[in-house]
Amino acid sequence: MIELGVNIDHVATLRQARRGSAPDVVAAAKICEIAGAHQITVHLRADRRHIQDADVYALKQTLLVRMNLEMAAVSEIIAIAHDVKPDVVCLVPEKREEITTEGGLDVAGQQAKLAEVTAGMHEHEIKVSMFIDPEPRQIEASATIGADYVELHTGAYANARGDAVERELQRLWDSAETIGQTSLRCHAGHGLTVRNLMPVALIPELFEVNIGHDIIARAVFIGLDNAVKEILDILRDVENKR
Ligand code: PXP
Repeated sequence: MIELGVNIDHVATLRQARRGSAPDVVAAAKICEIAGAHQITVHLRADRRHIQDADVYALKQTLLVRMNLEMAAVSEIIAIAHDVKPDVVCLVPEKREEITTEGGLDVAGQQAKLAEVTAGMHEHEIKVSMFIDPEPRQIEASATIGADYVELHTGAYANARGDAVERELQRLWDSAETIGQTSLRCHAGHGLTVRNLMPVALIPELFEVNIGHDIIARAVFIGLDNAVKEILDILRDVENKR
């Protein structure tokens, strides 16, 4: 079965709206874990707009499932990652003014730097994923620098309308096939929802999806436990079809 990483950044977004302690990020992670999530994902941004350093340390102490730390490849956050030792880091591009991670990481354009960051993570026994657009040259570069996984950015697919949906989906399918011919493992994420997940989840090479906003948004109405379970139901259903 495709594994589910639940991104709980937006539980922290709600907490930071009042700079208080509710809702509790660790409690949210535990509910996801009990509901059957395979991984908890958090993005420690340089601007600390949602997840805080203390959250990352608290999650590391309490999680039973894998911890995936999304981060920019900048020295401040690299040092925190080395100290916390999450199971996985997912390297993402980060722009201060963006609402959310906009595009994939340009691995091909900064191979030497990212190879060094990857090697440093490996020395700390942390697996490394590259969040990339579905482009052959980014896949090739990720394999060359020794990354363990690539996470295909599904944002263009999620935002596509009309004929573009099929086109963007095909790019994801083609990229996954290319990834399957390398040592990399194929993950996907960004903008995935209960409504648009199925065609992506049918990709034969797909190993993991990371979903945040839609789960937390639906949790407001149906509860976090149910919001996680309805995604898991789709992934289970897909297992019989692919
Ligand atoms: N994967 C990566 C690498 C991301 O940066 C994000 C957003 O933080 C997600 C997955 C989750 O995206 P969404 O919140 O749209 O589900």
